[in-house]
Amino acid sequence: MSEVSVLADTANYYIQLEEQYGAHNYHPLPVVLERGEGVFVWDVEGKKYFDYLSGYSALNQGHLHPRIIKALIDQSQKLTLTSRAFYNNQLGEFEKYITSLFGFDKVLPMNTGAEAVETALKLARKWAYKVKNIDTNEARIITAGNNFHGRTISIISFSTDADSKKEFGPYTPGFISIPYNDLNTLEEFLQQEKNIAAFLVEPIQGEAGVVVPEEGYLSKAKSLCEKYNVLFIADEIQTGLARTGKMLACDHENVKPDILILGKALSGGTLPVSAVLADDEIMLTILPGEHGSTYGGNPLACAVAVESLKVLVEENMADNAEKMGSLFRSEIAKINIPLIKEVRGKGLLNAIVVNHPDENAAWNICLQLRDAGLLAKPTHGDKIRFAPPLIINEQQMLESISIIKTVFERF
Ligand SMILES: Cc1ncc(COP(=O)(O)O)c(C=O)c1O
Repeated sequence: MSEVSVLADTANYYIQLEEQYGAHNYHPLPVVLERGEGVFVWDVEGKKYFDYLSGYSALNQGHLHPRIIKALIDQSQKLTLTSRAFYNNQLGEFEKYITSLFGFDKVLPMNTGAEAVETALKLARKWAYKVKNIDTNEARIITAGNNFHGRTISIISFSTDADSKKEFGPYTPGFISIPYNDLNTLEEFLQQEKNIAAFLVEPIQGEAGVVVPEEGYLSKAKSLCEKYNVLFIADEIQTGLARTGKMLACDHENVKPDILILGKALSGGTLPVSAVLADDEIMLTILPGEHGSTYGGNPLACAVAVESLKVLVEENMADNAEKMGSLFRSEIAKINIPLIKEVRGKGLLNAIVVNHPDENAAWNICLQLRDAGLLAKPTHGDKIRFAPPLIINEQQMLESISIIKTVFERF
């Protein structure tokens, strides 16, 4: 057997294993990865790629960031889990660091993004009953169309995406869906409905295809929430932690959310760590026994999260995201072909909207990008997200833009 077919057999072997023994709840691009470093990953055949997905923005600091991996190894050799039944010497340090970094009184640590969103929703409801004095079980939360906040039953209850939702009912009540980027409808609901606890929003809708709202949307929505005594909850799980060129996407409009949700890059791609931040008036409505998680706030996660945040700050990753993102958009905009309908985004969270009669065009372009050494994934059919690790340098950016240009022009 030739070397080439032996190598291809290796990839097929792993793909077949997943196909046969794993649930079919994903549709991965056919590439089998075994190693990563910085902005690059390598497949089982040794081929090198630019990682333009970054684990859906969990790898903002790049693969195997040495400081994060050191924190992970050091802490894993001391103490990994206590559960919250006992105190540990990492949780408080993490709590102090993250609350002072983002300017909140308190933090509640969880694991996955969806859990953190659930936590924020529970906090908003508690606050509604205990502070705003909404009648029991009457609190409503306003959400935006085309949102993506995770996969739990309650979260999909306010999804507008049929695939996420259909045949998973009955759904959790208490949510109102309004169009994204629509302040008039937001104000109408805030005026009419007296029982609104919160407005939950992504500052940029990542999964929907990097949908950037009009400038001023976030700050005006926040003002409306203040006017009607409603909590403004920012889901910054994908947009936060330097991805869009500022530490938070809300920082672009100087908005401080009442509840801030973080996840993904909080651990630099090493383990699931999420967090919900709020001030005492909100956070202290939840009492012992009312919420928690066995792994939430574990010492390993805390040590890794502090280092992941320090790396983002000390290595100026927001500034680099801002610079490299501008370069990306301006260079892609120069590729003047009908196939590219639009390039949009902020910092290093960008998408190209593909204009092609074949509904599989974006997928097929991603296959060609893979062959040319760059991994990206379509989102919602005709959009391809381009979100490399924030440590990408100018030369790597120009090299990857040249790959993208060649593939799009040839397609
Ligand atoms: C904005 C947003 N919220 C929530 C989530 C869910 O996070 P997780 O997959 O960790 O549950 C995601 C994941 O993509 C997200 O982008």
